[in-house]
Amino acid sequence: MPFTILKKRELVPTIHQVDVAAPRVAEKAMPGQFVILRIDECGERIPLTIADFDAADGTVTLIFQEIGKTTRQLASLGAGDSIADLAGPLGCASSIERFGTVVCVGGGVGIAPIFPIARGLMEAGNKVISIIGARSADILFWEERMEEASSELYVTTDDGTKGHHGFVTDIVQKVIESGEQVDRVIAIGPPVMMRAVAGVTKPFGVKTVVSLNPIMVDGTGMCGACRVLVGGVTKFACVDGPEFDAHEVDFTLLMSRLAMYLPEEKEALDYEAAAEPAV
Ligand code: FES
Repeated sequence: MPFTILKKRELVPTIHQVDVAAPRVAEKAMPGQFVILRIDECGERIPLTIADFDAADGTVTLIFQEIGKTTRQLASLGAGDSIADLAGPLGCASSIERFGTVVCVGGGVGIAPIFPIARGLMEAGNKVISIIGARSADILFWEERMEEASSELYVTTDDGTKGHHGFVTDIVQKVIESGEQVDRVIAIGPPVMMRAVAGVTKPFGVKTVVSLNPIMVDGTGMCGACRVLVGGVTKFACVDGPEFDAHEVDFTLLMSRLAMYLPEEKEALDYEAAAEPAV
């Protein structure tokens, strides 16, 4: 059964939001979970974290960045178009409890999945200190949404065009060193950012959770594509995660596995470019 795109817009250059009619997914979705979609019968399967969901409207919101052939193809679709398959919600939901004070960190496109987690943690009675970061102000999105979902919000940009000039880790460190009792940190973003956050919190012994984004195929624990090493033990991010203890994750292995298919991705993009009519 195809899934209809109800709304589609480019939030900032190369980052898009699609709202898809998927009532059964929306009904069961929880913060931290993801879907696997396939644009058409012959398409590649790609995992996307659920950025928002509305059970009453029967919609799920997905945010993605144009990186490879499939995400570019998805970006070219508009309202009224449809997606062949959308399987989910998959993965374990984020742990939403009354922890006390939680620092939520979202970097780049990771701002999207951190949003429902921050909102859930606020609703559960936590003090939520959110830190969102991007390379530059022009690719920062959902600041207002994050403001609503947080007790305090900090913005960072690598180039200083908005908020703190520097990295999200600078603020994580500042908050912890300010004497604030931080009970938990959750970080979602590029692996290098999540590793850096883990490096900051570890000496302070602050429980830190990251949401991993390895290559996935079936999303149900059968293919092994999403294997990650956590505390020396092999885990499948699709069924055991995607959230794991940041201090136990082998980020070097994660990053090398993520780079595994870059030559094939380049080949697919080159092939597509060659097939495009010259203008
Ligand atoms: S995606 Fe296949 S085992 Fe996780």
